[in-house]
Amino acid sequence: MGTVTFLDPPFIGQNVAHTAIYGYTLLNLAGSLKHRLYAECRAGRCGACAVKVMVLGERGACKMQLGEIEKSILYQAGKLSREQYRSETPPDSSSLWRLACQYVVGNEEIVVAL
Ligand code: FES
Repeated sequence: MGTVTFLDPPFIGQNVAHTAIYGYTLLNLAGSLKHRLYAECRAGRCGACAVKVMVLGERGACKMQLGEIEKSILYQAGKLSREQYRSETPPDSSSLWRLACQYVVGNEEIVVAL
């Protein structure tokens, strides 16, 4: 069982406990709660759904690592610096911009902000 906390209205501070479902993205989860995250392509190509994901607790890092395509889209959307984009070392994944349509929700405890 994972927990997602959204930090924007009307869900400020509300913990949303969920059972991870294979392939269920953060965008899917928000939609199921009638929480409108902005999205356009829903396919990881436009960057419109970028959200900041902070991982809480001991796990400390997003299970799903930032891939090259997502990294490129986030860079083009201005969410990653040039240094982060070019670095061979993965950026600090305990607090990182991610694409809500690509971030598969796991059994982690996360906070999501726009
Ligand atoms: S909606 Fe386009 S990248 Fe997520």
